[in-house]
Amino acid sequence: MAAPVVLVQGASRGLGLQFCRHILTRRAAAVVIATCRSPEDAAELRVLTAQHAGRITVLRMDVNREDDVRRAAHTVRDTVTRIDLLLNAAATLPAEGGRERRPGGGRLREGETSLRDVTAEGVISTLTTNAVGPLLVGKYFSGLLQKGGGGFGQQPAERARQHSGIMVNITAKVGSIGDNGLGGWYSYRMSKAALNMATRNLSIELGRSRPKVVCVSVHPGTVDTDLSRPYHKNVPKDKLFSAEVSVNHLMSIVDALNMEKTGKAYNWDGTELPW
Ligand SMILES: NC(=O)c1ccc[n+]([C@@H]2O[C@H](COP(=O)([O-])OP(=O)(O)OC[C@H]3O[C@@H](n4cnc5c(N)ncnc54)[C@H](OP(=O)(O)O)[C@@H]3O)[C@@H](O)[C@H]2O)c1
Repeated sequence: MAAPVVLVQGASRGLGLQFCRHILTRRAAAVVIATCRSPEDAAELRVLTAQHAGRITVLRMDVNREDDVRRAAHTVRDTVTRIDLLLNAAATLPAEGGRERRPGGGRLREGETSLRDVTAEGVISTLTTNAVGPLLVGKYFSGLLQKGGGGFGQQPAERARQHSGIMVNITAKVGSIGDNGLGGWYSYRMSKAALNMATRNLSIELGRSRPKVVCVSVHPGTVDTDLSRPYHKNVPKDKLFSAEVSVNHLMSIVDALNMEKTGKAYNWDGTELPW
């Protein structure tokens, strides 16, 4: 069997980077296509690429630019015939005034804790990166997922219920409408709720096709990355995962996926999350 292919979208740092590291060190047979919007600034990804030469390819893809997504898909189709696992990891959690928080970008207040912090520009920008981006990735890469060899997840004996590729959208528990008892984080919550709807829609459309693609949302827990750093002081130490621990949990979920589990959102421990 040919090497399983994993595409990690948003691989420059945080969980996306750790997914690449995990696959390269724990799944000896697999190859990785890592996408990020600025490969020249992705120092840790460059180190990983040097350590695993021949097994990882880095491509430029800003999910806010449809042309970038289309072009990256074109390049990938020239390189591989299929994708077995696609992980949509990129996201932004806006700081004050809806502005994007980037490493080394100076201090910004926590954002959108109340209505007065909301700006149209901030909401649109967050929705674009966190919900529209992964949907476009689904649009341009689903053909390759349909050609996946089923290298991840569990396959039932009956052919009719087997899957080809798996698409995982990294959501956040705060995107659950049913679970929202606290409010705040307007655009981030809205973007993840919209992403969850995209997951459900994709699971229906790609679950009708043959071969079928599994599509799920997963919540990684609260993880020690740049994204959630401003909020870590409120998180008990035993509830703050390293990226390594979180990805280990999420890959256990991926390994147990099948067509019966498609179209749902899962917490890091594998339990189902309410929409
Ligand atoms: N950390 C947590 O506690 C937590 C909790 C719940 C859910 N999540 C989710 O987990 C996922 C990963 O987050 P993380 O914690 O790893 O965050 P992170 O360390 O801040 O990484 C965010 C990633 O998104 C990329 N990105 C942002 N905008 C992009 C764009 N337009 N195009 C392409 N890439 C873009 C960043 O690339 P650059 O390097 O170019 O900026 C970076 O690689 C996200 O979906 C997040 O919502 C995280």
